[in-house]
Amino acid sequence: MVVEIKAEQVNKSETIQSYHEDSKHSKKRYAPAPPTMDWATQPDPFRFYDGTNKIQLPLNADNLKSTYDDLYQGSHDIEPQPLNFSNIATLFELSLAISAWKSYGGDSWALRCNPSSGNLHPTEGYLIVPEMVVPDEYCPRGSICGVYHYVSRDHLLEERFYLDGERSHNWNKNFPANTILIGLSSIHWREAWKYGLRALRYCELDTGHGAMAFRYGAAALGWRAEVLTTPGDRDIANLLGLGLSTNVIPEPELPDLLIAITVDVNSNNNIEKSIAPLAAIAKEGEFKGKANVLSQRHMVRWEGIEAAIHACLKPQTSIESHQANSTIHPLQNRGIDSLNAATIIRQRRSGQDYDGETPITKDQFYHMLDACMPRAELAPWDISSIKPAIHPIIFVHRVTGLQEGLYALPRNSDVLPSLQKACDKEFLWSQVDNAPDHLPLYLLQSGDAKRVAKMISCGQDIAADGAFSLGLLAQYGSGLKVGAWGYRRLFWEAGMLGHVLYLEAEAAGVRGTGIGCFLDDYMHELLGLKDNTFQTLYHFTVGTPITDSRLQTIPPYAHLGRG
Ligand SMILES: Cc1cc2nc3c(=O)[nH]c(=O)nc-3n(C[C@H](O)[C@H](O)[C@H](O)COP(=O)(O)O)c2cc1C
Repeated sequence: MVVEIKAEQVNKSETIQSYHEDSKHSKKRYAPAPPTMDWATQPDPFRFYDGTNKIQLPLNADNLKSTYDDLYQGSHDIEPQPLNFSNIATLFELSLAISAWKSYGGDSWALRCNPSSGNLHPTEGYLIVPEMVVPDEYCPRGSICGVYHYVSRDHLLEERFYLDGERSHNWNKNFPANTILIGLSSIHWREAWKYGLRALRYCELDTGHGAMAFRYGAAALGWRAEVLTTPGDRDIANLLGLGLSTNVIPEPELPDLLIAITVDVNSNNNIEKSIAPLAAIAKEGEFKGKANVLSQRHMVRWEGIEAAIHACLKPQTSIESHQANSTIHPLQNRGIDSLNAATIIRQRRSGQDYDGETPITKDQFYHMLDACMPRAELAPWDISSIKPAIHPIIFVHRVTGLQEGLYALPRNSDVLPSLQKACDKEFLWSQVDNAPDHLPLYLLQSGDAKRVAKMISCGQDIAADGAFSLGLLAQYGSGLKVGAWGYRRLFWEAGMLGHVLYLEAEAAGVRGTGIGCFLDDYMHELLGLKDNTFQTLYHFTVGTPITDSRLQTIPPYAHLGRG
């Protein structure tokens, strides 16, 4: 028996390693992708469940007074709002909602608080809630209780699983006081339609962005948000009314993670233990609604993605030890009271183009990096109780007072010896002396890195024309030791870091952009890496954007006559 399990684990690990290698872009070839864009079959970026009760959500975020800087200070600075229907609406408005429409030449497209590779939005969001009062104008029954799918296009909830009477008692008793759950899932087809085999990576990065979007939204309401580490995908699938099979051809939607949202920032919440009983209730329940078909035709089936999904399904696991090496120093409050949190969150955008000249200051740069450092007790990194395994390798192009070159920011001090050992022996590893003492920023090599940064980022100018760009290097070998499912978790952490950088860039008056298209092994060569102990999983750039004045901006819910 033991031998069988081990063999299965080896198999899964091999499958995921093959997926990772096969989905790399390299100087010689890009990862397999559709030869042309079949625009007629572009997947619908919005999921709907026909035949469900619709519960409209109010649009309240304009009323929120929290400042952006206060989000980082934990419980002390933001008065926790009551966990009620109206504030849950705000949580969605600040995480997965539409933040603007853009239009040009007769076309228009929605942008959301959460970014997404190719703006294809594979991530779906769910609310899992104990019985809660809802004003009659939103729900004539006067309450919600169960599992609800969020539709960002219409800012509403679709009631997939409702409980009342005796069943609701059993359900409710599993929720600790003042606690709700958010579930995230991915529809891989949305990304595979355009990006082919690499799509699974993009979905998991997007999930990380989505989770962090909830963390910031919750912080703006004075709440905690933590990704649960113990549930297995089977329980999450049951809870969200999804399957685990990729044979739901052609558009399977698969579970990713659960986030516990709690009001009492000091509570030692026991929600992890409640997931199995909640999932058992949901499994026996009747989920309402039929999911819309996203594309009328599906020309290619990406079997490599399906195999990888099966290999990295997560079993139920026990609680892991808490974050080590948390930075003790709180993030410096810049004291800019004019930066409203809800405004920064909703104005987040990707820079399409950078001006190639304007620098940022050292202080701005250090603040952005500092926000990436783990602080186990403070937002946003209290979202995760696992040890940080992703480390920025930075190409500094235009930071006043800092020499151009390649830098490293190991986010957990334990990794330093192995990182130094794995990297090019010529690297300097000299700690940047004018950086804040607690910021472990090392110069590896000085010199103009613009050309190489651009080449690594599939030739994209955005990697060279900003103030800096970076690759997020994962402790890949050790990250997979928990099981092949650790693969997805590494991408989530990388996506979360990307999200922090997006918002930090906005707060600094510049702009960030995620970069999913990069030549993996070219980056590894540059660093002198010889094996898979470390792998780069996501790239990012920050700088002064050139805005495209041809694009018209339309308010997020103007199409509904709201807001
Ligand atoms: C995982 C990920 C990968 C991305 N990769 C690229 C990229 O390689 N090049 C690029 O220009 N933009 C990239 N983007 C930015 C998206 O195109 C952008 O998020 C999307 O168009 C939505 O626009 P918004 O961020 O302004 O809301 C990426 C975004 C994410 C989240």
